[in-house]
Amino acid sequence: MKKTITLNNGVEMPMMGYGVWQIAPTECERHVSEALEAGYRSIDTAQAYYNEEGVGEAVGKSGIPRGELFLTTKVWISNAGEEKAAKSIDESLRKLKTDYIDLLLIHQPFGDYYGTYRAMEKAYKEGKARAIGLSNFYDARFVDLAENMEVKPAVVQLETHVFSQQVRMRGLMEEYGTRLMAWSPLARGMNNLFGNETLQGIAARHGKDIAQVCLKFLTDEGIIVIPQSTKPERMASNFDLDGFELSDDEREAIRRLDAGHPLAADFNDPALAKYLLGYDEQFNPAKD
Ligand SMILES: NC(=O)c1ccc[n+]([C@@H]2O[C@H](COP(=O)([O-])OP(=O)(O)OC[C@H]3O[C@@H](n4cnc5c(N)ncnc54)[C@H](OP(=O)(O)O)[C@@H]3O)[C@@H](O)[C@H]2O)c1
Repeated sequence: MKKTITLNNGVEMPMMGYGVWQIAPTECERHVSEALEAGYRSIDTAQAYYNEEGVGEAVGKSGIPRGELFLTTKVWISNAGEEKAAKSIDESLRKLKTDYIDLLLIHQPFGDYYGTYRAMEKAYKEGKARAIGLSNFYDARFVDLAENMEVKPAVVQLETHVFSQQVRMRGLMEEYGTRLMAWSPLARGMNNLFGNETLQGIAARHGKDIAQVCLKFLTDEGIIVIPQSTKPERMASNFDLDGFELSDDEREAIRRLDAGHPLAADFNDPALAKYLLGYDEQFNPAKD
């Protein structure tokens, strides 16, 4: 498997990373340490995961040279706008115990995200971020921002798995050299992923498990993946995609599983927008 992908500004990014959404702040350092032990060098966190400190602790204690690591974080809606976003980026740097973030994303397409992007462009030019991009920006929202801003998004992170292969978005992103980074690459097991007969058949043929088949398919398509597991044996197996190749027929069979739309989150749904706009007030542990 190709281990890295070149972003549109020349930065090399690992194809495989470890995601820490919904990992409790108290558990995060341990799980990130386990992931680093398993071989992961790319970690995906966010301001609104409230666990950036745990990531910073784990990478600090790992002894792995900073240049061998790739840290992604995301600016939350409550920090939207140029001034607030700039402050929050400095806060993320402090929590992650680092001078630079490898990939800085706008987490959600709500609030003053143009102001946020301007702050990220400034951080990029100052060397506080090696690459900048977006998350959950679809269709016209993505094109509008990509057309208007000077630094073209290096990455868009979207819900992407075998049931939501993001074919349309990949076509749109190609024009800007923007890479797709898959969130929930195992669909969080939705739609009975781990009981899917097509995937079971392919996995059995190769002596692999369904997660490995899914991750192999996505990375072969040039999609960056950040699977999450709290179990060291799964962290290790998800990371190990070497030693087998999917056939053209198997790839075609997996392509046919695509429903053509995300399963977990519809970013045109007003209810989702309202929920996310109130999220920090409701869930930020520092607000208790
Ligand atoms: N930008 C965004 O808005 C956004 C949204 C969601 C997620 N993300 C990012 O994407 C990362 C990954 O997504 P995700 O955590 O939602 O879901 P995921 O990686 O698709 O799935 C994680 C789930 O699958 C299970 N699992 C992992 N490996 C497995 C295996 N080999 N066999 C069976 N089950 C397995 C895990 O359980 P165990 O722990 O029990 O193994 C966990 O419940 C997140 O951590 C986060 O960094 C970003």
